[in-house]
Amino acid sequence: MGEGFQYRDGTLFAEDVPLPAIAAAVGTPVYVYAANAMRAAYRRLAGALATVPAGRRTTLCYAVKANSNLAVIRTLGREGCGGDVVSVGELRRCLMAGIPADRIVFSGVGKTRAELAAAVEAGIKQFNVESLPELEILSQVAAEQGRVAPVALRVNPDVDALTLKQITTGTRDAKFGIDIERAPDLYRHARALPNLDCGGIAMHIGSQVTDLKPFRDAYQRLADLAKLLRADGFPISRLDLGGGLAITYRDEVPADPDGFAALIEDIVGPLDCELMLEPGRVLVGNAGLLLSSVIYPKTDLARPFLIVDAAMNDLIRPALYGAWHAIVPVAEPRPGTPEAPVDVVGPVCESTDCFAQARHLPPLASGDLVAFLSAGAYGAVMAGEYNTRPLVPEVLVDGARFAVVRKRPTFAEMVAGESMPDWLDDRPAAAGAP
Ligand SMILES: Cc1ncc(COP(=O)(O)O)c(C=O)c1O
Repeated sequence: MGEGFQYRDGTLFAEDVPLPAIAAAVGTPVYVYAANAMRAAYRRLAGALATVPAGRRTTLCYAVKANSNLAVIRTLGREGCGGDVVSVGELRRCLMAGIPADRIVFSGVGKTRAELAAAVEAGIKQFNVESLPELEILSQVAAEQGRVAPVALRVNPDVDALTLKQITTGTRDAKFGIDIERAPDLYRHARALPNLDCGGIAMHIGSQVTDLKPFRDAYQRLADLAKLLRADGFPISRLDLGGGLAITYRDEVPADPDGFAALIEDIVGPLDCELMLEPGRVLVGNAGLLLSSVIYPKTDLARPFLIVDAAMNDLIRPALYGAWHAIVPVAEPRPGTPEAPVDVVGPVCESTDCFAQARHLPPLASGDLVAFLSAGAYGAVMAGEYNTRPLVPEVLVDGARFAVVRKRPTFAEMVAGESMPDWLDDRPAAAGAP
């Protein structure tokens, strides 16, 4: 069910708030996040790391791409989390949410000169640089500002993370990082560039990684590179150990944080470096759900459908990756209620707007509430307005309190940025206009 969500007296609650109360106040579809579940996920990982010496030198930088709502970032920031950002927009969100610049790492394969300049000016902790041209631009930008930019080269270890192909980032054919074989050359080149502190190495192997073996293989390659570079006179003192720990969507068994911490101690502990981790999904994924209402059951067909008011524009993971989300009724079915297979689909005009095929559910009627579980990561952040559907709102629950942390835009707000070119404008020309 995901920590923070449970049935009480036949109704699904988010912490101490019944979901029908949120649906009545905000409408559906709506994302609902459980703040205490996020805190618990953070504390589980931070707690495991605190048991090993290397872990105590580690900063957890929350990968805000997973869920960049300001209230979510602040909830984790207040726990002591830093931020991992992939755009200047995410950087600004972190700063706005109160994460200090010196706890922010900038990742991403295509940072523009303007983005690099903004981050140098903000004084962030580290730039994870992914190419030679980016390194050269960063050096120029830092020199223009008279500052030194702290750099880690993101190397691609060519290790298969044994996760979905679409969320694998550390194999040689991925667009991410610098081939680990070429890394020493790049460090030598970087040494000649002004205004850079190239004392870091970063890597990221992929997301939703269940098995510790790919981490072990990748971090071993990273440790070997660090030793090689040190022998070549590079004072390597920072390691960014990317690769996203998995959560349970269905029956996955995620890697245990204690085993992960022990692995870090074992492989990179002896290097005595400052460490950074970039967890996203594992901190927020199971702490969120998408609450939706049934519009129509269309069950008089050979293949029955349940049409709900959430759609692929609100939660794209099933359409994008074939991802699986548990779907549960908010009113707990009585024991023994028969279930039947049904395709759960949204109203968007695309056949791919399908959340689940032949999912076994109890009978549901128009207006009934259902919840898509484990939707706290890569849910709202990937939402769009396709079919002129308003961006789905977000609600944060904290114990018995809840608040709308992003409202549903009105139609006027949705079209506010659009305008007619003068040749299509029907309005009478203003007096005095030519
Ligand atoms: C560079 C980087 N950091 C962090 C993350 C977050 O990963 P996850 O949400 O699996 O923890 C990703 C995801 O792909 C990434 O590419």
